[in-house]
Amino acid sequence: MMNTAHQLAAELKSLLGNFVPQTALILGSGLGTIADAVENPLIIEYADIKGFPQSTVSGHRGRLVCGRIGQQNVLCMQGRFHLYEGYAATLIADIIHAYKLIGVQNLIVTNAAGSLRRELEPGALMLIADHINFSGRNPLVGPNDDSLGPRFPDMSNAYDQELRLKAHQIARQEMIPLADGVYLWVLGPNFETAAEIRAFQALGADAVGMSTVPEVIAAVHAGMRVLGFSVITNYGTGLQTQPQTHAETLAKADAAAQNLQKLIFALLKEMNE
Ligand code: HPA
Repeated sequence: MMNTAHQLAAELKSLLGNFVPQTALILGSGLGTIADAVENPLIIEYADIKGFPQSTVSGHRGRLVCGRIGQQNVLCMQGRFHLYEGYAATLIADIIHAYKLIGVQNLIVTNAAGSLRRELEPGALMLIADHINFSGRNPLVGPNDDSLGPRFPDMSNAYDQELRLKAHQIARQEMIPLADGVYLWVLGPNFETAAEIRAFQALGADAVGMSTVPEVIAAVHAGMRVLGFSVITNYGTGLQTQPQTHAETLAKADAAAQNLQKLIFALLKEMNE
């Protein structure tokens, strides 16, 4: 019997026709507009994909936007699945593995995250250099499909070093401030306590969030090149010395999202060279 990733890949293939995506983009909270740049998009609602769950978080739309950005064939997820919504971690692996099976070689993940460092202010853009899985969950639990990747995948270059250097290079060229840091994954859905934020700082994390890591683990397992970006939307609990207005945060996050969009477009161009 075929496993779920293979079934999902067959379903996606039949929906995509002869379109072969090279890069998958997972667009986090408030970052879905990046998909608006896709030329002549083929839009597929999650509801129309057999075996795909629905996105339950507001601000996450729940559809795939496929087509070209620059020279790249991209598949954008407008709306992702979080484990705090009740989904199994293995479902996230199945989706990423299905992407690999239909030809995707690169994964660009984006998210909104809380800052653990005072100088990493709301509105900042952070390139994920590495991660800490603090969720106790793993998308690769269960039987391993050896045709997709190894039982014990190496994570020493989870966020592809070459792509990260490229991202920093482009950011410098485009005068976009880009921090570098470690992203820590919590299950959620509650925000952290002040004690937890202090603990995560001591662990060496720079930002905290409720997504991204399961997708990255599955992608690395399947041999994909991965790049991840966090838009810092707030300080971690207890870090704030002065009250921050929500309007200020939103405006800053919006500016960061625009910079991120610029950066991703430039990167997609370079990734073809
Ligand atoms: N904590 C966890 N997840 C988040 C945060 C946070 O402070 N901000 C955005 N996503």
